[in-house]
Amino acid sequence: MVSRIIPVDLFDLIIFGGTGDLARRKILPALFKRFCDGQIPQGSRIIGAARSDMTMQTYQDFAKEAVLAADDAPSHTAKVDAFLTCLDYVKIDAMGEEGWDVLSAKLDTDRVRAFYFSVGPNLFDDLADRLHLHKMVQDDTRIVVEKPFGRDLISAKALNKALSSRFDETQVYRIDHYLGKETVQNLMAVRFGNMLFEPLWNSQYIDHIQITVAEEVGVGGRGAYYDKSGAMRDMVQNHLMQLLCLTAMEPPAKFDPDAVRDEKLKVIRALEPVEPHHLVRGQYAETASTQGFREDVENPQSKTESFVALKCAVQNWRWAGTPFYLRTGKRLKARDSEIIVAFKNTPHSIFGPEAGQHSNELRIQLQPDEGITLKVTIKEPGPGGMRLLDVPLDMSFAEALGPDADTPDAYERLIMDVLRGNQTLFMRNDEVEAAWAWTDPIIQGWEARFDVPKPYDAFSEGPIDAMLLMQREGREWRKIAE
Ligand code: BG6
Repeated sequence: MVSRIIPVDLFDLIIFGGTGDLARRKILPALFKRFCDGQIPQGSRIIGAARSDMTMQTYQDFAKEAVLAADDAPSHTAKVDAFLTCLDYVKIDAMGEEGWDVLSAKLDTDRVRAFYFSVGPNLFDDLADRLHLHKMVQDDTRIVVEKPFGRDLISAKALNKALSSRFDETQVYRIDHYLGKETVQNLMAVRFGNMLFEPLWNSQYIDHIQITVAEEVGVGGRGAYYDKSGAMRDMVQNHLMQLLCLTAMEPPAKFDPDAVRDEKLKVIRALEPVEPHHLVRGQYAETASTQGFREDVENPQSKTESFVALKCAVQNWRWAGTPFYLRTGKRLKARDSEIIVAFKNTPHSIFGPEAGQHSNELRIQLQPDEGITLKVTIKEPGPGGMRLLDVPLDMSFAEALGPDADTPDAYERLIMDVLRGNQTLFMRNDEVEAAWAWTDPIIQGWEARFDVPKPYDAFSEGPIDAMLLMQREGREWRKIAE
């Protein structure tokens, strides 16, 4: 099954921080892939803007290296040179005057204009100011901002205020790259495109939901950032929150930006505060061959968590009584992200107590090896009476859709959505603030308790307390990468 490519309108995309890590690893490779698929109309321009002393030629060299080094770089490298002709570069000072007139002179008025703020949030204000000062903002101008969008409610509100004083909310695209992942969007397709699941999608039939985003990697070269952030701010407040919202939300009336975001917002606002005994923080320890967290962040006293597990409750009609368990961490056993919808046991077993307790489980595997598995109970084949067995009804998307199925990187989808003007997969200001309003008291709570994260073995399932969090309630996490 080959995807249908609909070209976007002619555009100028300006990447502030165009020589940075995100541009190199994600933005430029994503644009190149879209270019190879014919989605970028001829004449569109991608302008890197940064402090570095580069020329158009050296920027093109930088971009060439970046797109060819990407994990899933298209094999038709012959297109690289054609792609490079879309690229230009402006040396610019976000906090001074250098380069702004040059940039302004390069832009055309008759096309979509998008400014990608691939820079720290401390520069958002300056960039927004200068874009206005130099009259570069038109009606169909869009700006793209990355996480971290604040580090608490106060700072998120300040960022929102800074942006809203210069741009309409319909012009602001806050990226959470999890929303661009193909399988995360599939969550909505599975829920709202099938009659099968939705009638059962509530506390009457569902015992609990678990959401795991496990990473095998440690904090790598991002120690300084991560030590100030931790798993709660880096992953739970945004990515896991989005997965929770898409799993728990009511069906929106239609698949349009505000309809979807209104429903997600209602979920966040219905979240109960998290009790301290429903929260586990962890920090990975060293192994013979890998450093521990404290060495990675170069802070021997660090009390920052590289792992969080928590139980939370969405207090509304649909979910009252069904707990949601979230967990995420670095240096775990494997890279494995999934959502488990654990259904309740049948109310009565007609097969008698010896048949045991059985329940269905829907597993949505987000990465790697995207797919869906439904655990169903059947009769164990053969003689010897009625014995029951749980077996998986397995659908790996790669197998079902064939080798030509396209699984674009999240950034490909999201950047094209910016250019198309579709905000459905981007976070709205009130959504981000509501997520911080829920997260802040959790963080303030552990700070006030001087909580120290529990050490856990690198490449394990996380701290033992995370297992106990569920076991105490007669439940179990699914084993990572099982
Ligand atoms: C980022 C976090 O937002 O998401 C990283 O800052 C994390 O710490 C990454 O590793 C995970 O993304 P993915 O797409 O690899 O699951």
